[in-house]
Amino acid sequence: SEGPRPLVAGNWKMNGSVAMLKEPRLLAAMLKDVKLKADVMVCPPAILVRRVKSVLKGSKIKVGGQDCHWAASGAHTGDISAEMLKEAGCTAVIVGHSERRTNHGETDEIVNKKARAVQKAGLKAIICIGETLEERKSGKTLEVVTRQLKGSLPEGSTASDTVIAYEPVWAIGTGLTPTTAEVAEVHALIRKELSGLMGQDGAGVRILYGGSVKPSNAEELMSQPNVNGALVGGASLKAADFLGIIKVYA
Ligand code: G3P
Repeated sequence: SEGPRPLVAGNWKMNGSVAMLKEPRLLAAMLKDVKLKADVMVCPPAILVRRVKSVLKGSKIKVGGQDCHWAASGAHTGDISAEMLKEAGCTAVIVGHSERRTNHGETDEIVNKKARAVQKAGLKAIICIGETLEERKSGKTLEVVTRQLKGSLPEGSTASDTVIAYEPVWAIGTGLTPTTAEVAEVHALIRKELSGLMGQDGAGVRILYGGSVKPSNAEELMSQPNVNGALVGGASLKAADFLGIIKVYA
């Protein structure tokens, strides 16, 4: 198949515990001899990153962070840096998730600075964008997605240090998903914009779909043009569910 190697990433959000480490352990065991056409990643809360890394030792499953500060270190009580996540074993960091934008007032400008910090640390920035229901209903989806992409993508981004995740806010945790045509339309727009902003490299950037991805709809969503994998929330918490999505690429 053409296009970049897909990525299926699980965003645990503020879920997980030491007891839950059995899930990535199980997932690693189940994927041990499976030849996948995609990369797999789990993004646990920062405090669990080292433990998840150790549980996944010997497995190809990668570990990512969910957020970071834009500075490498300094007087930022309660924050963690991309450098710290890297030292703990992360190879990527999600930035600009809608829950960060909504609950923590993160603007495109802040997301851009965070993404740049992630890239500077040598990690992949998984930059999230997506419209609200109100924006979708008033026909502003393409305008909003374009604005967020242009504002959040650092200058000098490359196909190897950047992943875009399209997550319609109204599809997150709701069980609702856009139609396949709607997904394809937005992903095509993102691809076109990436090519305009990055030149040739734009074709190699992975564009993930996120929002109520589950085993029963993964195949259909992942088969749309310019969909290069998924960012999975709820269904990434249980190894069996996550595996059901990953299997699209087996
Ligand atoms: O980052 C992934 C997330 O926002 C999607 O969540 O639970 O709808 O898969 P969920």
